[in-house]
Amino acid sequence: MTNADALQGVEIAWVGLGRMGSAMASRLLASGVDLAVWNRTPERADALVARGARRLRSLGEAGACDVVFSMVLDDAALDSLHDGESGLFGAAHPGAGSARVWIDGSTVSPAASERAARAAAEAGAAFVAAPISGNPAVVEAGQAIFAISGDDAGLEVAEAIGLAIGRAVHRVGSRTEASVIKLCVNALLSVTMQSLAEVAVLADRAGVSRALLMEFLNDSAIGSPFTRYKTAPVVTLDFPPAFTPEGQRKDVRLALELARALEVPLPVLATTEVAYSSLVSGGLGEGKDFAALILEVARDAGHQLRPEELR
Ligand SMILES: NC(=O)c1ccc[n+]([C@@H]2O[C@H](COP(=O)([O-])OP(=O)(O)OC[C@H]3O[C@@H](n4cnc5c(N)ncnc54)[C@H](OP(=O)(O)O)[C@@H]3O)[C@@H](O)[C@H]2O)c1
Repeated sequence: MTNADALQGVEIAWVGLGRMGSAMASRLLASGVDLAVWNRTPERADALVARGARRLRSLGEAGACDVVFSMVLDDAALDSLHDGESGLFGAAHPGAGSARVWIDGSTVSPAASERAARAAAEAGAAFVAAPISGNPAVVEAGQAIFAISGDDAGLEVAEAIGLAIGRAVHRVGSRTEASVIKLCVNALLSVTMQSLAEVAVLADRAGVSRALLMEFLNDSAIGSPFTRYKTAPVVTLDFPPAFTPEGQRKDVRLALELARALEVPLPVLATTEVAYSSLVSGGLGEGKDFAALILEVARDAGHQLRPEELR
């Protein structure tokens, strides 16, 4: 069976149209599926509705579609989707709770995924955790990847949706393994951003161009898609937000909470949490991408960075 077959005649309710949700739902709509959309702030659905998506007026209406795909900020937001009468499985809307499958792509704790899975099970629906790796630009380019884990009955449709949006889907288990993998990957990414900011400030203080540093670094063994994405902000000091410092700190904290619960010391990540907290509380990261961490590192060093041209 192809992806297109798996999604044939299936109405998908998309819940959560922030930066990531909008980019993902946009690709899904472009692939020709039958899409309905809901966002807490309704205006954020306007662009997709103008392109043919059906507007949903409530979470209950979303819960009455065949499949729900949610993409919201954090644990509290995910909890709110299945909370009470006005949630996905509440009785506030006729037909609410008849969804067969609920797939959640948000980066949340395994505990929040488990709570959502329980709520789905009580309503007779399968649940799949499907966190995504890639920022909105990566999604738009069709290069995002998913880790999926959950109930067998939901994996096929989750995989088909993942492949309609991105380039690969990794099946990693039958419970909330995907959430654990996503937190591990984001923990490494957060630490990498801090280290990148530190060496860029060091090179700059030594009188070496950050553009030259990044050009060499990206060509070396430590160069990666991530260091290439973050080259522009590190060099130009322009930080259009792909992911906010608050969001990145949220993921660091989720990984640290999991580590604490499992008695795994993560001293490097603990230090990184302090760095992101300073970036948030000091205001240097406001309205910016989390790559603005370089401004915090420079401030700690008492060093003035200047924008450079990209090479
Ligand atoms: N941005 C990235 O590069 C990236 C990459 C991979 C994964 N992620 C993950 O993707 C998820 C979304 O990130 P984002 O960058 O799209 O964030 P965002 O732009 O801030 O969007 C957050 C979304 O969550 C909704 N939301 C927040 N609190 C809610 C609540 N209590 N009830 C219902 N809806 C609520 C927002 O609705 P409103 O519009 O009403 O505020 C919005 O639709 C996060 O879990 C993030 O960790 C992000």
